[in-house]
Amino acid sequence: MFIGSVPRQSIQQLLAVAGLSEQRRIYVCCSGQFRLESALREQMPKAWISGNDVSLLSCALGYWLSGQSLPFRFTGDLADLEDVAPGDDPRRRLAALLLALEMSGIKRTHEYGLRQWSMLWSQAGDLIHGIYNRLEKYADIRIDDFYAGDLRDQAHRALAADGVILAFTPTYKGGYERAYKSLMANVAWTAPDYRLWDNKSLPEFLHGLERERGQYFVYCDYPMEGFQPLAKFQRGHGKTVWLYGHQGQRSSLRAESLKSKPFVYEPIDVSRLSAATTVNVVKIDTQRFNFLRERYLSRGIEFSNGNCHFLVLLDGMLAGGIAYEPVAHGQLTDLYLLSDFSISQERKLSKLIALLATSRDLTRQVEQCYGQRFTHLYTTAFTDKPVSMKYRGVFEVSNRKPGMVNYVSVIRPQTLAELYAQWWSRHAKNPR
Ligand SMILES: C[S@@+](CC[C@H](N)C(=O)[O-])C[C@H]1O[C@@H](n2cnc3c(N)ncnc32)[C@H](O)[C@@H]1O
Repeated sequence: MFIGSVPRQSIQQLLAVAGLSEQRRIYVCCSGQFRLESALREQMPKAWISGNDVSLLSCALGYWLSGQSLPFRFTGDLADLEDVAPGDDPRRRLAALLLALEMSGIKRTHEYGLRQWSMLWSQAGDLIHGIYNRLEKYADIRIDDFYAGDLRDQAHRALAADGVILAFTPTYKGGYERAYKSLMANVAWTAPDYRLWDNKSLPEFLHGLERERGQYFVYCDYPMEGFQPLAKFQRGHGKTVWLYGHQGQRSSLRAESLKSKPFVYEPIDVSRLSAATTVNVVKIDTQRFNFLRERYLSRGIEFSNGNCHFLVLLDGMLAGGIAYEPVAHGQLTDLYLLSDFSISQERKLSKLIALLATSRDLTRQVEQCYGQRFTHLYTTAFTDKPVSMKYRGVFEVSNRKPGMVNYVSVIRPQTLAELYAQWWSRHAKNPR
């Protein structure tokens, strides 16, 4: 029904890397068919979201989703649609517009076109009713504000409100204007004032936002020189879409939710472990994970905020925690181990936690969370020593920099129980 849309998988990438908080106002530029808004609303029911577009169809949809009705009138060849769908119910009016779009695409210069035209007219009431029902899928995308106008003006509204800008700007100059030309010839409405967008000017637009210290995440259909992509998505053999974000986005946005929440747990008693111990992992929220990190991680370890956190329970006792996030500037199959820690230093428990972190059993849950498939796990040990003892034999050194050693491991196909058995026989069975 609508033209041009962000692939669903790349929206998941955006939500994974952006770490958006519900406290921040979100300004979408170029809403199109409101796919971004739909994904945002699903993940953040309480967030304040503003949509934006300039085309009649997207404006009619944006007005409806923000609880308003866009005034317009069918004219010329389509004038009779006013009798078929009168009133100002925004959903019914949008349904009529979608039928009008289909009708205005019919060439009435030959017999077949003429027959199609009269067939659509004879069933117009039922067709509008059917489209109305199909529009149900949009009904839950509630937005708080809609701005009918130029995307650059919407970006300025975001800057003024200290909001976050999300955009998928038009990739073909004048493409939308051409696509809706014949519909526009038969509808009267007060079109918003806007400037034609040329996607070649996206880098200049983003430099402007950087100067204003704006926070943004934008998609682009070409790799932009001088900008580091956060993610890349290719649909089959189709077009590639790159995702870019403002500089320093990790620290500024993610820092917001670094709060901690205490909870009750049974700490590990290593002497009670055996070869028959059961291993469980439980996904927990950021606040509870931070509570544990504050208690058990040494000072000086960087606190950055992940999205996928797990507790490791051995026979129901808390042994440690693991947090992941996709590697922002690497391959799509690269996963980063943000933190892994044990709450006891006995019997090389920390090596067990690191080993379990590489299990497909665990990373499968991360894949579900991000909608991406991972093959390699990366991590960093902040140390002046040449190796980190806990990672020795679990990860391989990928490179060293002053004060840090970077590690990588393939994601192991073994289950958590199999990796526990391996650790038990090598490190824990006969403690020295
Ligand atoms: C690539 S689509 C956006 C797709 C959308 N994010 C989605 O997934 O549904 C681009 C949209 O930009 C709108 N547009 C074109 N020029 C614009 C401008 N100058 N300001 C705001 N929106 C514009 C078009 O009407 C179209 O709906």
